[in-house]
Amino acid sequence: MDYKGLERVLLYFKSFYLCIMNIQSAYNIWANNYDEDKNLTRDLDAEIVRKVFSNQKFNSILEVGCGTGKNTVLFASISNHLTAIDFSDKMISKAKEKVKSENANFQIADITKDWNLEENKFDLITFNLILEHIENLNFIFEQTHKHLKSKGLVFINELHPFRQYDGKKAVYTENGESKEIDAFVHNISDFINSANENGMRLLKLNEYWHEQDQNKLPRIISLKFIKD
Ligand SMILES: C[S@@+](CC[C@H](N)C(=O)[O-])C[C@H]1O[C@@H](n2cnc3c(N)ncnc32)[C@H](O)[C@@H]1O
Repeated sequence: MDYKGLERVLLYFKSFYLCIMNIQSAYNIWANNYDEDKNLTRDLDAEIVRKVFSNQKFNSILEVGCGTGKNTVLFASISNHLTAIDFSDKMISKAKEKVKSENANFQIADITKDWNLEENKFDLITFNLILEHIENLNFIFEQTHKHLKSKGLVFINELHPFRQYDGKKAVYTENGESKEIDAFVHNISDFINSANENGMRLLKLNEYWHEQDQNKLPRIISLKFIKD
C-alpha cells in the first residue's frame, strides 16, 4: 500500500472511533433524562415489547443495548438468565436501579468489537433502538449468530428506515441545546440480507405507529429471525 492509501485507512479508523466516542458520550449525558424526556419512539418500543413478550418464556436472553433498563425488567421476568449489555456506564447504572432480579447480569460492552460475554449462547437476542448507531450490520449479525443457540431467535425493533430517509435521528438535550446522535441508515433489505448471509431466516416483519402518528410514516420496524 502506498502512503496515500495508508493515510486513507488511518483517517477511516480515526473517524470511526471518534463517531463511536461521540455516541457513547451522548448516551452518558442522556442517561440523566432518558426516562423522563418526551419520546414517542421509546414509549412505542416498550409497548411492542410488552405485547410480543409478556406471555413468553426463555431460558437465556441477551439484551443488546439495554440502556436505562426500560425493557430489561420484562426480559428478566421472562427468562431464567438475562445478560444485558451496553457501552454507556451511565445508562447501565440507571438500568441497575430498576432491575433487582438475581437472574440479571449486566456487562459494559461495545458491540462493534468482538463480544466477550460471560454466558456464551442464548435462546433469544434482542436489539431495541440501538442498530441505527451501528455502521457495520454484518459484524453484528455475525456475532449474533455466534452467540445464538440452534433455533434461537433474534428480535429487532428499530427506528423505521422511512423515518431515517426523512432525516429523523435520536435527539437529546445538553445545556438546553438539542443535539442529534450520529446514526447510520439501514434499509429493510440490509437487515434481511445481512441476517440471511449470516445464517438467520426472517420469521416476521411488522411496522408500528404510535397513536399520535396518524397519517405519518411508520415509526418502528420490527423483525424476528431464527437461526436454522
Ligand atoms: C436509544 S437507546 C435504547 C436503549 C434501550 N434499548 C431502550 O429501548 O430504551 C440506545 C442504547 O444503545 C447503546 N449503544 C449505542 N451504541 C452502542 C455500542 N456500540 N455498543 C453498546 N451499546 C451501544 C447506547 O448506550 C444506548 O443505551
